[in-house]
Amino acid sequence: MNTILKINGKTYTVQAASEMPLLWTIRDIIGLTGTKFGCGVGQCGACSVLIDGKLSKSCSVTTSFASEKEIITIEGTLDNLELLRKAWQEANVPQCGFCQSGQLIAATSLLNNIKNPSDEDIDDVMSANICRCGTYSRIKKAIKMVAEPKKDTP
Ligand code: FES
Ligand code: FES
Repeated sequence: MNTILKINGKTYTVQAASEMPLLWTIRDIIGLTGTKFGCGVGQCGACSVLIDGKLSKSCSVTTSFASEKEIITIEGTLDNLELLRKAWQEANVPQCGFCQSGQLIAATSLLNNIKNPSDEDIDDVMSANICRCGTYSRIKKAIKMVAEPKKDTP
């Protein structure tokens, strides 16, 4: 069946079974391969995207659920995502890189909701994203590099 998906400001009409995981549609039909397939069961965060601003695991929602909603993937542009990309480079965060698009989307969601997160806020959100390379301390540093300049802003 035809489904309308709005991804990173573009509208796509896709033919996909309504129960197909959104991740499959994003990667295999639309070809946006920045969103990664890790566990496939909602446990690792590699497939994270924003759906109507909400942090979501695209392996665990259906394509029909996402119909007509605003989806942002790692290929998208949002202010915090752009700032985090730069901080990720400056802090030299990635190792193998496989989990990092999900990590960046989760960090974007965190900073969209909490301008200056505490360590606990960061741990709360980012603990849903697994990195087998153990880049957690550099991820936290990069998030703080973006958050800290905002401390003095009203
Ligand atoms: S692939 Fe979706 S949470 Fe792991
Ligand atoms: S950088 Fe390798 S899994 Fe996270």
